[in-house]
Amino acid sequence: MSHQAKSVLESDSALLKIYKRFPVEFAYGNGVYLYDKNGEEYLDFLSGIAVTGFGHSHPVIKKAVDEQLNSLWHVSNLFESTAQQILADKLAEVSGLDKVFFSNSGTEANEAAIKFARKFGGEKSTIITALGGFHGRTMGSLSASGQVKLWNGFRPLTPGFKYVPFNDTHAIIHSITDDVCAVMLEPIQGEGGIVIPSPNYLKEVGAICKENNLLLILDEVQTGMGRTGKFFAHQWFDVQPDIITLAKGIANGLPLGVTIMSSNVADKINPGDHGSTFGGNPVSIAAANAVVNLLTDEILTNISNSGKVLINELKKLNSPLIIEIRGLGLMIGIEFDEKLLNSSIVEALLNKKIITYTAGRNTLRLLPPYIITKNHITQLIQTFKNILNDLHLE
Ligand SMILES: Cc1ncc(COP(=O)(O)O)c(C=O)c1O
Repeated sequence: MSHQAKSVLESDSALLKIYKRFPVEFAYGNGVYLYDKNGEEYLDFLSGIAVTGFGHSHPVIKKAVDEQLNSLWHVSNLFESTAQQILADKLAEVSGLDKVFFSNSGTEANEAAIKFARKFGGEKSTIITALGGFHGRTMGSLSASGQVKLWNGFRPLTPGFKYVPFNDTHAIIHSITDDVCAVMLEPIQGEGGIVIPSPNYLKEVGAICKENNLLLILDEVQTGMGRTGKFFAHQWFDVQPDIITLAKGIANGLPLGVTIMSSNVADKINPGDHGSTFGGNPVSIAAANAVVNLLTDEILTNISNSGKVLINELKKLNSPLIIEIRGLGLMIGIEFDEKLLNSSIVEALLNKKIITYTAGRNTLRLLPPYIITKNHITQLIQTFKNILNDLHLE
């Protein structure tokens, strides 16, 4: 086997086999389309798992990144950064919070949130999180994620987490003891299967936190940055968190994690308490400032409307194999009957050149770019309909 051929077969290469990869390699992207090495066009209904919300090679983001690459890549956080300040000010303004810390990923944004909550808590260090939740793969965030299957092989977990069923306020109330400092939740569970809580859940959790002097940490790594049709998903639910974490969509594909907090949390943090070499890298920050400027009310309305059209069209399919269609904005899950495996639909759609992915509870996950149009929705629906019709399940 030639060296070149060997490099495309992961099983034969030195690359750690830790992802199940589809046998497709993309060469470039443009808008809502990706192109493989043979020039075959794929419709992107995944956005790199809720990352490239503005599609591929967006001219405004590309220009900002190009300009930054031509001037400065890295200087460390030992020096002033006006671009970081501009982004922080904007995120503080939209969130109603006060201070912002930059890192590189979702899991790091959550690690910072956990540390800051514990600093705020003083003697109180326990954080209540939800079963089925996902907050990342590093030990703190992994321990916060209420999914046994993610823990197996990696124990001992970081102590100081209590797990309660999602969408159950009584379970939170019953778990509050003297050592609890915070409740940490995703507004909508993403990896868990696009699980949307009842309309009053987050508002009630916010009230419970206030009453008990607990911080409410909302992990908006997947739901934030416009994904649900509002800047932050929690804005649909009339709740004010004390800490918000972001990553994924914020820099349209470049690595950036964000932890936004209220001043009472920030006041407890001193220089040297936490940090990151790469966090808030100038190139990622340039992309993020461009993304934030693009995330106008108009695009948020478009996300909301496109999501409604997509859900409506999916419902019209009226398939007995579909148990439930859940979604908000362009974060949509289609849960199948047990006769049909979600991964088989992901593969069938990929064969038809449409990119989607799975989530928990036998769910197909759709996270298309914010810039999709009715035509793209029609293409997905028609293809999905044909696949369902071609299934011969007894
Ligand atoms: C809600 C949520 N939090 C945290 C993470 C972890 O983000 P990252 O993979 O950037 O560490 C994810 C990733 O899927 C996520 O969906």
